Amino acid sequence: MTVNPSGWRPSTPANEEGETQTVTGNRALMLEEPLLFEIGSTEQSGVDFPKFETNSGRLGGLERNRGIGLAGLSEPEAVRHYTRLSRQNYAIDLGLFPLGSCTMKHNPRLNEKVARLPGFADIHPLQPQETVQGAIELINQLAFWLLDLTGMHGVAMSPKAGAHGELCGLLCIRAALEARGDKREVVLVPESAHGTNPATAAFAGYRVENIPANKAGRVDLEALKARLGPDVAAVMITNPNTCGLFEPDMKAISDAVHAAGGFVYCDGANFNAIVGKVRPGDLGVDAMHINLHKTFSTPHGAVARVRDR
Ligand SMILES: Cc1ncc(COP(=O)(O)O)c(C=O)c1O
Repeated sequence: MTVNPSGWRPSTPANEEGETQTVTGNRALMLEEPLLFEIGSTEQSGVDFPKFETNSGRLGGLERNRGIGLAGLSEPEAVRHYTRLSRQNYAIDLGLFPLGSCTMKHNPRLNEKVARLPGFADIHPLQPQETVQGAIELINQLAFWLLDLTGMHGVAMSPKAGAHGELCGLLCIRAALEARGDKREVVLVPESAHGTNPATAAFAGYRVENIPANKAGRVDLEALKARLGPDVAAVMITNPNTCGLFEPDMKAISDAVHAAGGFVYCDGANFNAIVGKVRPGDLGVDAMHINLHKTFSTPHGAVARVRDR
């Protein structure tokens, strides 16, 4: 069922169960709004333009001789479209944030303000590189700091949140396995893992299996070793874990996973507790993300890192 605060129903057809279809098939938050081009016909205009004199003399015969293909909407129709879109922005001031949204709920407002400085906020993705050297320098500097702090060999600055970084990292692992023709199907996740870990693994196409915790609340190394095998693509370990406990067996876990041909993903959401003290890359981690809002208090960000092996 479509959740739409305005009560407005999208025109997209419903399937047999009465659920609205999305283009990607991804139902996610079901925030659907047709494009302006789906609402208004390009054959008509929303406003009456005065008849204009021909410019042919001044344009040397290059003047447009057909419509420009804009959606023909009246002003109220266009305003309603954008107002509906604006009401679909979910905010911490509107209600609770669900799982996998720490980046959104924990971003200090000051950081939001800094991210909106015109030098950042006004950049267009297709802007010539020579006009955005300041921003590139900043991103580059941060990337090198992160490489130093994590001991990883590469860094992606594009993921927008922790869960997004997880997906980036797991897709890298998937690509590495596929490159060697290895069809592994299972990702092992400790019982205490954040819900985004199994969700990410499932979204990346893996079957998720739990690893139990030992009495001390850490990963049960023996149980993990017993489950490792040729079907295990990766193990996702949060370190320090969700209970705030450092996984002292991390190196032994990595060695065992690598010996079985799998990869080690580290959920680095809690990296703040160990930053500057231990480097995940030295512990055998192959890919990880960091929740920047936690470790560095940076707006809307996470990064994914990959280590060559
Ligand atoms: C351990 C852990 N992993 C992953 C995430 C997901 O991060 P995000 O909310 O930024 O997607 C969080 C926060 O929700 C977390 O605490």
